[in-house]
Amino acid sequence: LGMGLFLQVVRNLQLWTKQLPQIRPYYAMKCNPSQPVVQLLASLGVGFDCASKFEIESALKCGVKPDDILFAVPCKMSSHIEYACRTGVRMTFDNVDELHKIKRIHPTGKLLLRLNVTDFEKGVKFGDKFGASMSEARKLTLLCKELNLNLVGICFHPGSGSDSSEATRNCLHRCKELYDFATSNEIHLKIIDIGGGFVCGENFIEISEQVTATVGKLFPPETGVTVIAEPGRFFVKNAFGFVTPVHGKAIVGDRAKYYIGAGVFSTFCMTLFEKFERIPENLSRKAEKCDLYSSTVYGPTCAGVDVVLNNILLPEAQIGDWWFFDNMGAYSSLVSLGFNGYMVLKTGFYISQDIWNEISEKLDPDCPLFEQYRQPQKLDR
Ligand SMILES: Cc1ncc(COP(=O)(O)O)c(C=O)c1O
Repeated sequence: LGMGLFLQVVRNLQLWTKQLPQIRPYYAMKCNPSQPVVQLLASLGVGFDCASKFEIESALKCGVKPDDILFAVPCKMSSHIEYACRTGVRMTFDNVDELHKIKRIHPTGKLLLRLNVTDFEKGVKFGDKFGASMSEARKLTLLCKELNLNLVGICFHPGSGSDSSEATRNCLHRCKELYDFATSNEIHLKIIDIGGGFVCGENFIEISEQVTATVGKLFPPETGVTVIAEPGRFFVKNAFGFVTPVHGKAIVGDRAKYYIGAGVFSTFCMTLFEKFERIPENLSRKAEKCDLYSSTVYGPTCAGVDVVLNNILLPEAQIGDWWFFDNMGAYSSLVSLGFNGYMVLKTGFYISQDIWNEISEKLDPDCPLFEQYRQPQKLDR
């Protein structure tokens, strides 16, 4: 059960606008793609970073304009580029092959070149998955000119939840180097996209001030450059909580084990890639009246890795108690249903004719499950 505080989303946006008025946020909807959040942020003038055709579709359905969408994945399926072409959204890229693919499918698209910033990354790192090195980026910049492609800007991501001005400032200097190179080759870039990684917490004021100072120094208004960002968790993490009953419990020696309705394969999927230390609040009884146990909290599945919290001190809970986890708005329930909009794939079952011939005689002729295999089918590629 998810519980949302929309007022908190609005407050987070107010804080962003106060601290970074010159940097327009493009909300990374992969982080929490729920319709009310998208509709609310869209109506408040926020842009959107979409990670797939599916996310673009859903943003457009929520009333977001194509001009306010950035398709921020450097390697895209051709069908998704075709969709980007039809809708007219901007796209990112980071290599020669992707550029040729874009040239073939969407030659007039507005493009942002993603830089590799592995050496500066903090938080959950992207590593070498995305981004061109500086020398590759220079070649790509010239290739855009040669292919007559519309390179409009540079982007990077300093690490999800990086919460660091140092990472962002270092990356900005790298952007400036490429920006100057492009200018000297008569390519006038208009957009610098500083990615996400911002956390709505104590550090934000200082980080935003330092980022503002660096942006002002490297890209002053006379350059005509617009600086944008792709914050995700900043807007939603502290706006949503999660409530679940404790459905199983065992006291083993001086340790307690609890079993709850969601685990690492669903709402707590973020524990697979980042540290999770949120202590649940027991809504059903007062903590002061309970014994303390070193406790492990498990998800509902039979997988041994389905551990939400390991060896933390918790007041004893009883089966049927309700637990509340705070700060669950980012990378949780909705993400586990299909990260980046990639919902569970349709599954087809095929069996080769040889094997079918071998087993079909042994099957119960009334077995309804196997009815569909009795007729040979052509594979649709
Ligand atoms: C391209 C891109 N932009 C933005 C984000 C959002 O990051 P965060 O939630 O840390 O702000 C991500 C997260 O994975 C991302 O991949």
